[in-house]
Amino acid sequence: MELEEFIKQLDALAEQAEAAFQSCQGAESFEAARVEFVGARSGQFKLIQKQLGQLDRDAKPAAGKKLNESKARIQAAMEAAQLRLDETGNQQTLGPMLDATLPGIRQHLGRVHPITQTIEHLKDIMGKLGFAVVEGPEVEDIWHNFVALNIPEDHPARDSLDNFYLGSTGNTSGAPDTERLLRSQTSTVQIRVMENTKPPVRIISLGRVYRPDEADATHFPMFHQMEGLWIDTDVTMAQLKSVLRMFATAYLGEDVSIRFRPSFFPFTEPSVECDFLWNGNWIEFGGAGMVDPNVLQSVGYDPELVNGFAFGLGVERLCMRRHCVEDIRDLYRNDLRFLHQF
Ligand code: PHE
Repeated sequence: MELEEFIKQLDALAEQAEAAFQSCQGAESFEAARVEFVGARSGQFKLIQKQLGQLDRDAKPAAGKKLNESKARIQAAMEAAQLRLDETGNQQTLGPMLDATLPGIRQHLGRVHPITQTIEHLKDIMGKLGFAVVEGPEVEDIWHNFVALNIPEDHPARDSLDNFYLGSTGNTSGAPDTERLLRSQTSTVQIRVMENTKPPVRIISLGRVYRPDEADATHFPMFHQMEGLWIDTDVTMAQLKSVLRMFATAYLGEDVSIRFRPSFFPFTEPSVECDFLWNGNWIEFGGAGMVDPNVLQSVGYDPELVNGFAFGLGVERLCMRRHCVEDIRDLYRNDLRFLHQF
């Protein structure tokens, strides 16, 4: 056989093999092409290779070179096909892994705590009534928690059994540090605001207060209050009642009536307990009254020029009424079955 003929056959073979590998669609057609072209015993390449012996001696180097080139071409086509089939194969095995009928992995979304939700709601309502929101510290001194609020030294509200006085902090004597305590009421913020602001003042302050009460369905040693304060010239008790009625109506619904009962607080005169009639029951929501002149004096206001009212409502009570929660402890048990309902 002539060298020329040999080379022609090899070129033709390489072309056929490339076409075959390019068009194979799966493991079966790939294997068929592999056997046909590079099969070890009777593959076409092998058959042509065997003819090498029939060539002239001086044609052999060129023929050998051509054999190697063609083998490389066929091998490259085969590898490309292998790669292509592997990839589509992988996609096929990935496919069935997504079973749309299986339940998914559920994302547990957190929620805003009901008390925080209530606080936001109250801020919203009072904001519309023109009250700005302010904050005060939970660790207080005697001045802001008692003295400036007209609560004298011998008043039972200052009893160590009724307050969380802080243990000795700065002093080395070991005696309890009675100068600071966890605030027992948000009325402290009234003082802080008036000390730093000239009248008129129209604020609310929402936050935690602390009293050493045994926890039961209606008491908890930590709870929240909403304090309100309006100082101006000629503020009246009628305005206090209107603000509280508008607030109660906005928060609890159209059917809310409001009732004042005479009461006593050292920092208001006159003082009242404020009840809302809701679903047929009168419920006490907190205290209120006209700010005592002594309090105005203690912050440097002139009681002859300005006056005002203040109120303090229990946030938990409001939240519990609105959502029919019967035990305050439920709010603080961190039971997700409870919290998820809000
Ligand atoms: N601070 C009072 C309490 O904790 C409530 C109150 C606030 C009463 C403002 C009158 C005026 O019970």
